[in-house]
Amino acid sequence: MTPAPYGLLAEVTHQCPLHCLYCSNPLELRRRDEEIGTEDWLRVIREAADLGVVQVHFSGGEPLVRGDLAELVAEARGCELYTNLITSGLGFTEERAKSLVAAGLNSVQLSIQGENAEASELVAATKRFDKKHEAARIIIDSGLPLNMNVVLHRLNLDRLDAIIDVCESWGAERLELANTQYYGWGLRNRDLLLPSRDQLAAAEKVYQRRKAELAGRMELLWILPDYYEPYPKPCMGGWARTALTVAPDGSVYPCPVAADIDTLDFPSVLAHPLDWIWAKSPAFQAYRGTDWMPDPCRSCSRKEIDFGGCRCQAFALTGDASRTDPVCTFSPDHHLVQDAVDRANETPGAAAPEPVYRRPRAAAE
Ligand code: SF4
Ligand code: FES
Repeated sequence: MTPAPYGLLAEVTHQCPLHCLYCSNPLELRRRDEEIGTEDWLRVIREAADLGVVQVHFSGGEPLVRGDLAELVAEARGCELYTNLITSGLGFTEERAKSLVAAGLNSVQLSIQGENAEASELVAATKRFDKKHEAARIIIDSGLPLNMNVVLHRLNLDRLDAIIDVCESWGAERLELANTQYYGWGLRNRDLLLPSRDQLAAAEKVYQRRKAELAGRMELLWILPDYYEPYPKPCMGGWARTALTVAPDGSVYPCPVAADIDTLDFPSVLAHPLDWIWAKSPAFQAYRGTDWMPDPCRSCSRKEIDFGGCRCQAFALTGDASRTDPVCTFSPDHHLVQDAVDRANETPGAAAPEPVYRRPRAAAE
């Protein structure tokens, strides 16, 4: 018996008002006219609950783009699922808040890209910082817990204190400080975003200090920058082990980035029930457990700890999703990561690469 997944990431749309340098959506975005309709989403939510899922994260793109979001939240609550909205805050009006609260939404995770409008625009190419502040106020006034998220990188790590100050002043209960992952769009901007070792060490000290100072008021979480770790992260808790992602067009993946792995044929909710997809589909079976592993993972004592790392990272860097994650010091491909780290630690002064902003419509077309 395959254990049930814990979480469903419902990527209801890839449409987004931001153009982030590290966008975590797949390289090929789904157009609006490819999105599945309300009835299909309602069925997916019911099937997820039957499968054993306990949490649904409504995400995108920007999920508020979809007018039926409150209906989907209500269905999830009716199935006794915990519901979380992952949003840029753009479009989070008083009216939307009311309908989402009435639908039973449990929590909101609001992202910011920097501590002010200028820093935000540098990352997301959008001047809407005031709207994010307004969204934070509406979230709090609605009685919802405000969780915040900031992706960290070379361009903002030095201002971590100021970023934490903003989140605290907006009333966040919890702040996730997530160091950038370098696959998908983030890999295109890796030389621009990858911090130096010293920069990262200084930021981690700030995190530790502020975590202690804010204890009991705001919870701080630090998502490790895996390029500076000796071993990879147990990405998604292992392939198809704890969660699944349904993309805007109904395709189903073990993680949001897996769509980029073009050597696997991912199933769709339009053709198969979710329980078959989870337990039986070849794409979900491909890297589940440890039997698929090549050496060095096969004979490694950590294989049940990190599951060989991230399949998407292995594919993005080597073109083969079955290889050991190149972040691992034991990986035969480790030089692919080490070379990037070496470049990030070279004497400062070298010309920074130009940012490559995500342009959803252009990419989708
Ligand atoms: Fe993890 Fe594989 Fe590296 Fe061992 S060899 S630490 S299992 S990635
Ligand atoms: Fe897909 Fe790590 S992001 S397995």
